[in-house]
Amino acid sequence: MSRGQGNLILCGFMGCGKTSVGRRAARLLEREFCDLDQYIEEKAGLTVSEIFAQFGEAGFREREVQAVWEVAARPGLIIASGGGTVLREGNVRAFHEQGGVIVFLDAPLAALQERLKNDKRRPLLQVPNRREVIARLHAEREPLYRAAADVTIDAGAPPVTVARRVAKLEWR
Ligand code: S3P
Repeated sequence: MSRGQGNLILCGFMGCGKTSVGRRAARLLEREFCDLDQYIEEKAGLTVSEIFAQFGEAGFREREVQAVWEVAARPGLIIASGGGTVLREGNVRAFHEQGGVIVFLDAPLAALQERLKNDKRRPLLQVPNRREVIARLHAEREPLYRAAADVTIDAGAPPVTVARRVAKLEWR
């Protein structure tokens, strides 16, 4: 899996460790790290929650599409996507067309529910029946992460272990 200076894009459900694994993997690989949500927030001057509150999920997704085009065009990045990014076919295509390799961080549902149980930051999870919502979204999305990904990595382990697994991929 060698694609020159193509980007490595981490995808997967909220709480699977895209940001913490991505940061560590970037250090190990001596690559620049880019967190897509953070990129969107900096560009908008608003947090993801504020974007959802002011413009709805559709407004966030539009900004996400734009952000994907912008970061996909830059070489050699380790990118932490958002939990919904690769659910859009066009986003997957944009990453692949620029030589990116998509890695699915596959964490068990129970681990995700545990990691997300006190989350106050993610708009989609600010609901009373959070465990059920996570289970439903996870069931809907898991096949799509798998379909978008070039590689799947077991992400049930701590970020430092998963980052080592990512860094070992021969993608450069
Ligand atoms: C989302 C996941 C979030 C963020 C937004 C929507 C999703 O990113 O992009 O709240 O649809 O799963 P993380 O996966 O980094 O939490």
